[in-house]
Amino acid sequence: MSGGSFAMRRGSVLCGAMPGPRHIIPASPRIEPATVGALAEAARLIAAGRLVAMPTETVYGLAADAGNDAAVARIFAAKERPHFNPLIVHVAGCAGADRLGRLDDRAARLIARFWPGPLTLVVPRRPRARLSLLVSAGLDTVALRSPAHPVAQALLRLCGRPLAAPSANRSGRISPTTAGHVADSLDGAVDLILDGGPCPVGVESTVVDLCGERSRLLRPGAVTLEQLRAELGEVDVGADETRPSSPGQLASHYAPDRPLRLNATEVAADEALLAFGPAPLTGALVTRNLSPSGDLIEAAANLFAYLRELDRSGARAIAAMPIPEQGLGLAINDRLRRAASPR
Ligand code: TXA
Ligand code: MG
Repeated sequence: MSGGSFAMRRGSVLCGAMPGPRHIIPASPRIEPATVGALAEAARLIAAGRLVAMPTETVYGLAADAGNDAAVARIFAAKERPHFNPLIVHVAGCAGADRLGRLDDRAARLIARFWPGPLTLVVPRRPRARLSLLVSAGLDTVALRSPAHPVAQALLRLCGRPLAAPSANRSGRISPTTAGHVADSLDGAVDLILDGGPCPVGVESTVVDLCGERSRLLRPGAVTLEQLRAELGEVDVGADETRPSSPGQLASHYAPDRPLRLNATEVAADEALLAFGPAPLTGALVTRNLSPSGDLIEAAANLFAYLRELDRSGARAIAAMPIPEQGLGLAINDRLRRAASPR
């Protein structure tokens, strides 16, 4: 999926942010439709070192001024995130990225093809970059992303500063794809939640490490391995064991409260079923089908919201049907494996 396809969807995404009955919300934590006024207030809060949750096309991010140590520290505290796990820095576009990290030819190619969009590049950090050192968790690299979502873009441009933004959930738990998920997860720790409707992609950005001679996929996402290889040629997969390049790739992540089992070929009456495709298993207490037609893009968009629903359904456990290991299926299976991993 390229940045271009998001550009075509911008109008509809922004419409999702308009006030309407869907957006009637409790007073605390504060959720505001992403109007011009709310965006201006969000920019003021960020300038004052506060935290704002913003929609991106992948998941909601918990944003703060990436150059403000206290604000970045507040992100770690709000998420209860281990300090060794660095944050993604969001920029409006290539010019902003170039000031913070050293972009080589590979980075330039990927930026031209996929930005703005769901792709994060890990590159050497410029020594004089105006970034809090906390952002990189002590590494000499920085993860850079230019999101395509019009609300995120508008906020970045209003702030005129790079924004550090991890997914807006407590560390290790399911990422938020609606403003309501953020409120459920970070109650009280966030100063304002900008509501831009449900995130169209639904799984986090693809993370590619370009610091070494060989390119490396650290986290699968909406820009697929196949698409990366078409641009770069060879791309290695997974963390490089020889250096601490991907501290965030913990085995247990995205965790629901109920146990989750994968590749289910049968389901018990007290289990909730996360189904996929035209022939869902029968007999579960409750079933949510990620995509009855077997469309991986639709499945990714539904993944986190359905996991949350099934987690709260009263079932003893969640059983997930197999998902094909191709295209966006890599990202879906990656998240499901971590969600199922022992804690
Ligand atoms: O879609 C996304 O990427 C969302 C939206 C909000 O942009 N953000 C997100 O951030 O998923 P977070 O913090 O939940 O995940 C960032 C991942 C982590 O696995 C982290 O370890 C990795 O990126 N990362 C960040 N900086 C890095 C660096 N310098 N080197 C290697 N990995 C890095
Ligand atoms: Mg996260």
